[in-house]
Amino acid sequence: MTSGGPLVLGIETSCDETGAGIVRGRELLADSVATSMDSHARFGGVVPEVASRAHLESMTGVLDAAFAKAGVRPSEIDAVAVTAGPGLAGALMVGVAAAKAYAYGIGKPLYGVNHLSAHVAVDQLEHGPLPSPCVALLVSGGHSSLLLVPDVTGGVEPLGATIDDAAGEAYDKVARVLGLPFPGGPPIDKAAGDGAPDAIKFPRAKYHDGTLDFSFAGLKTAVARWVEAKRDAGEDVPVADVAASFQEAVADVLTRKAVQACQRHDVRDLVIGGSVAANSRLRALAADRCEKAGIRLRVPRPGLCTDNGAMVAALGSSIVAAGLEPSPLDIPADSSLPVTDVLIS
Ligand code: KG4
Ligand code: ZN
Repeated sequence: MTSGGPLVLGIETSCDETGAGIVRGRELLADSVATSMDSHARFGGVVPEVASRAHLESMTGVLDAAFAKAGVRPSEIDAVAVTAGPGLAGALMVGVAAAKAYAYGIGKPLYGVNHLSAHVAVDQLEHGPLPSPCVALLVSGGHSSLLLVPDVTGGVEPLGATIDDAAGEAYDKVARVLGLPFPGGPPIDKAAGDGAPDAIKFPRAKYHDGTLDFSFAGLKTAVARWVEAKRDAGEDVPVADVAASFQEAVADVLTRKAVQACQRHDVRDLVIGGSVAANSRLRALAADRCEKAGIRLRVPRPGLCTDNGAMVAALGSSIVAAGLEPSPLDIPADSSLPVTDVLIS
């Protein structure tokens, strides 16, 4: 092992990003990502078979770019970590097969890890070791969950999750209603900057239900009905106001429940991860509410919130440092890997 911690290669292919990251301990050396998002845009959502094929086409180039950026040779790597689940089955298989080939080829251990834990672990590359315990809010196109994390390498306890759509999914569907491009998060975030967040009072489902679960399907439908009524009346749709009011409803519910999760479990540190963590209003409202509640907030920079290989390498590095047993070389890709399974053994 090199000084400064293990040199770990991380490979990510659970959705539409092909990622290869290299870390030494908690130092990020390279983060190479290719995305097939443009190929899915005309379908309004990620098409699994298109994503799998794109991973196959991008994998070698993405790995070569990561090694070149890090200035290391494959033979110098101490361990290979890969997202083994959850995610799209065919997409996961490409990454798992590539990771097995590398691990076998260089004779180094393989670690098949959980994508959700990797979204939490990545924050260590920017803000140092994770406090123990912490609460994690994970929000993306595929997941919206609150987790209690006593130890990112092993102990993850689900506290709540969406009962229907993920937060990012709601952004994508609302964008479509407003005629904005896919994926909907960035254009809605931008449009919201010119709108009033209190212009329209959209529903906040499960706000007072005492659980730490979320629901965004009703909100999406409420926005669609409101827009439809305007169009039926022959009136212009105030896109900026709709975007701002929708965004406020999402950020309000997510941050309220995240703070409640910390308070109920007497935790003073909140980490937010996943692509929706790039959202400007979510970041601002979380900062405001955490400060008022005496909670320290950690949010990785937007480039580390989206799916990438660095997050997988970061989790792999923590797992190696914790001395956990590697995964066998015949591990499967598990599209529905439970959040409690951090490492496949
Ligand atoms: O991480 P990702 O590429 O795939 C999943 O793991 O699901 O996440 C993409 C999702 C999309 O739904 C996109 O609309 C959302 O993240 N997103 C955002 C923002 N940037 C991306 N949502 C809100 N605000 C943003 N700035
Ligand atoms: Zn993700």
